[in-house]
Amino acid sequence: MCVSGAKNAATKQIVASLLTDEPVVLHNIPQIGDIAVTLDVCKSVGLTFERDSAPGSTLRLHTPTVRTPEVPLAFSGLNRIPILLMGPLLHRYGTAVIPMLGGDDIGKRPVDFHVQALEQLGATIDFKDGRYYATADRLRGAVIELPYPSVGATENTLFAAVLAKGTTLIKNAAVEPEVIDQVMLLQKMGAIIFLDTDRTIVVEGVEKLSGAEHTVINDRIEAASWAVAAIITGGDVVVEGAEQANMLTFLNMLRRMGAGFEVRPDGIRFYHPGCPLKPILVETDVHPGFMTDWQQPFVMLMTQIDGLSVMHETVYEKRFGYTEELVRMGAEIQLFRQCLGEKPCRFKGRDHPHSCVVKGATPLRAADMTIPDLRAGFSYLIAASVAAGTSRIGGIQYVERGYTNILGKFQSLDANIRLKQ
Ligand code: EPU
Repeated sequence: MCVSGAKNAATKQIVASLLTDEPVVLHNIPQIGDIAVTLDVCKSVGLTFERDSAPGSTLRLHTPTVRTPEVPLAFSGLNRIPILLMGPLLHRYGTAVIPMLGGDDIGKRPVDFHVQALEQLGATIDFKDGRYYATADRLRGAVIELPYPSVGATENTLFAAVLAKGTTLIKNAAVEPEVIDQVMLLQKMGAIIFLDTDRTIVVEGVEKLSGAEHTVINDRIEAASWAVAAIITGGDVVVEGAEQANMLTFLNMLRRMGAGFEVRPDGIRFYHPGCPLKPILVETDVHPGFMTDWQQPFVMLMTQIDGLSVMHETVYEKRFGYTEELVRMGAEIQLFRQCLGEKPCRFKGRDHPHSCVVKGATPLRAADMTIPDLRAGFSYLIAASVAAGTSRIGGIQYVERGYTNILGKFQSLDANIRLKQ
């Protein structure tokens, strides 16, 4: 089993290529729906690209001129990428027209931090008829303090700051490995970016960025999902390309529950030790905490462990919707509005069911279900693999948005799974 390049790094790096009129070459691009959407979004403003035919694969990106500063309204609602074009379009055209964002329904997911940061850098931004209209003569460096270490807002501010006049401080920035990978590409392109202590990123604006070549990091969400698939089925799988440094918290949680893993030069081997696993408390958080995108497969794993486990979701206020189907399949999961944990949480005292208690182990029955979002989708596939009987799962396009050859990879692990024509 081999993990692909990270969706949440590769899509942003395609956008980064718009910051220069020279070619940018990216390797390890996953073959997924979100890459196709992102390429279309960038193509609509002037990107040209070629894709090497070999899977594994390389993209050659080039935007000699920005043809139009307007991302068509048709891209509204498809993913989270269009707003990230604001900085590159302002730098290269002085104007940007961006449709509202889409993405999975896992919370309100506003973009107020993005807009405030760009305004602080000197952009004038209006919102009307479902679009953001932004203008700027030249962006200027500023001190920006994000109210929360948002991944997207940090990435957006980086794109705007690298070519701004003067120095920008992004305080309370996200430091997820996918963000650092973006910083590495930008540095290769000629940017000056310091990672300070205490979540501060310092960007010294430069006049121009050049072309570069970069290999996108591997997908630590996909790696964790295969780890759970292996452990929950009593299996033993080497996940090639899984990187220990980016999965420390995940591995600590596996160790606490008694699941087996072995870090190897080519990846990480995950296995069930043969003795019962222990229930645990897990709280999601920004990096280096336990990723919110590891939550869904982990809850799935909790359903198969004897005793009471707890998951406290502190990143998104509405990320347990998928548990309803698991309950229908026989899982015992109860949602709570209270914070069942110790981490500071923005949802404390508010009306969001963002904690859950899982009582395991419960055998699961097959069911007909519809995938509500990308990460939940993978968990449904795992659930169906361990359930007694045949499940029919609709909405498979959601998982194809984010995982390369998902069914083929499940089949390579001997899962009895096929696409109904
Ligand atoms: N937030 C705001 N205002 C903003 C921006 C964010 O209130 O302007 C809030 C969000 O509502 C959320 C929290 O801040 O409660 C964190 O959001 P963040 O901006 O970090 O998320 P994102 O950039 O939209 C990315 C990934 C998500 C991943 C999160 C957290 C992409 C395309 N998406 O989203 O991945 O869960 O960071 O790590 O990179 C996925 O891949 O399935 C996925 C949802």
